[in-house]
Amino acid sequence: MDKLRIIGGHRLSGTIPISGAKNAALTLIPCALLTDEPLTLRNLPRLADIDGFQHLMTQFGVSVNIAGKRPEDFGRVVTFEATRLTNTVAPYDLVRKMRASILVLGPMLARAGEATVSLPGGCAIGNRPIDLHLKAMEALGAEIELAQGYVRAHCPDGGLPGGDFTFPVVSVGATENALMAAVLAKGPTRLSNAAREPEIVDLCNLLTAMGAEIEGVGGSDLTIHGVDRLNGATYKVMPDRIEAGSYACAAAITGGEVRLEGADGEEMGATNHALRNIGVEVEADKRGVTVRADGRLKAVKLSTAPYPGLATDMQAQLMALLCRAEGTSVLNETIFENRYMHVPELNRMGAHIETNGRTAIVHGVDQLTGAEVMATDLRASMSLVIAALAAQGETLVRRIYHLDRGYERLEEKLQLVGAEIERIGDD
Ligand code: UD1
Repeated sequence: MDKLRIIGGHRLSGTIPISGAKNAALTLIPCALLTDEPLTLRNLPRLADIDGFQHLMTQFGVSVNIAGKRPEDFGRVVTFEATRLTNTVAPYDLVRKMRASILVLGPMLARAGEATVSLPGGCAIGNRPIDLHLKAMEALGAEIELAQGYVRAHCPDGGLPGGDFTFPVVSVGATENALMAAVLAKGPTRLSNAAREPEIVDLCNLLTAMGAEIEGVGGSDLTIHGVDRLNGATYKVMPDRIEAGSYACAAAITGGEVRLEGADGEEMGATNHALRNIGVEVEADKRGVTVRADGRLKAVKLSTAPYPGLATDMQAQLMALLCRAEGTSVLNETIFENRYMHVPELNRMGAHIETNGRTAIVHGVDQLTGAEVMATDLRASMSLVIAALAAQGETLVRRIYHLDRGYERLEEKLQLVGAEIERIGDD
């Protein structure tokens, strides 16, 4: 398995192009199941998870056409065409590798009136149930049965009637599934306490471009008036606010100055607020965000929360940054119960972090030191890369397939701003 070799201590300076958002792309792709016309997505990041989802789509008889962009370009243009669905089963082998596969449930039910999706199984960041996805489908009129590790869903009268559902906790994935199921329902659907992440807005914007009728976009109460059919569309995936936030932390920990080209300052709101409190200058304009740090970082208190709060997907990277801050920081992870797997690894690099349940206490240290490390999820792996960029000496980050799931050509982007980082194959 490949590793990343990083020599710390280089001040990052320059421009990093920000890719299309992975978490948006993973809910935009299954929208292709909702229409027999072509759906073209631009700015799709080149990531293992996107390749995996494209492969899953071919299982249903969807043609996937990747248009000719040069290999050296970031992002690509892909056309999906689901003229006819030939299969409605998402098998265990694909779903277990990629939790987002559950997002075919809603659109498949809406279009084909039935769907069989493997239960995703365990996950490194805690117990991640799908009960809310299933309850929302039932509220819209689906009948659901669990058997042999699979969810079997069908619409008793051919199509979903639509209905009302209040999410007891905010769930990004379940909101996305419910939206995609509701757009072709026979009647209206009202979703209350829906997630309002920018990726949900991106999904609503695409669905609207396809002819869906959605009221309340951007808010937590959504009303969807089902339509008879949806048309195809060409749509550009929004910029990745988590990728941008990650590189902002990387720049800040090295006392550097980096332009995040294409990032959206507004969508990065809570992250940028946290960075400013830590002592990092953040300037946003229409075409991107610039971050600047002078090496002095202040301790802060942070708590993750659904949007517009601080994204759980930024917790690990901000923690790495806070390892070098003056004073003691307190982090509270409110979304997932087991999202501190990076802590022992950061401590092996000389950090001083204690955890107690969902709280982490980060005592700032003067110096981090390189070490051989590995992490068990995507953002945790990125936190190790960030720490390594400021650490004394060499760090080897193992299990980088996690990073390949979510960061498009990470080492190339960091090299662009002067990091000493290379991918080395297993010998
Ligand atoms: C979550 C994050 C999202 C992030 C993604 C990947 C939030 C609100 N969501 O999205 O920003 O990009 O992880 O790291 O921060 N839950 C249930 N039953 C369900 C679904 C969820 O109990 O059926 C619970 C989860 O255990 C969790 C909370 O609801 O505690 C939020 O989960 P959810 O938003 O669904 O997770 P993701 O969509 O994976």
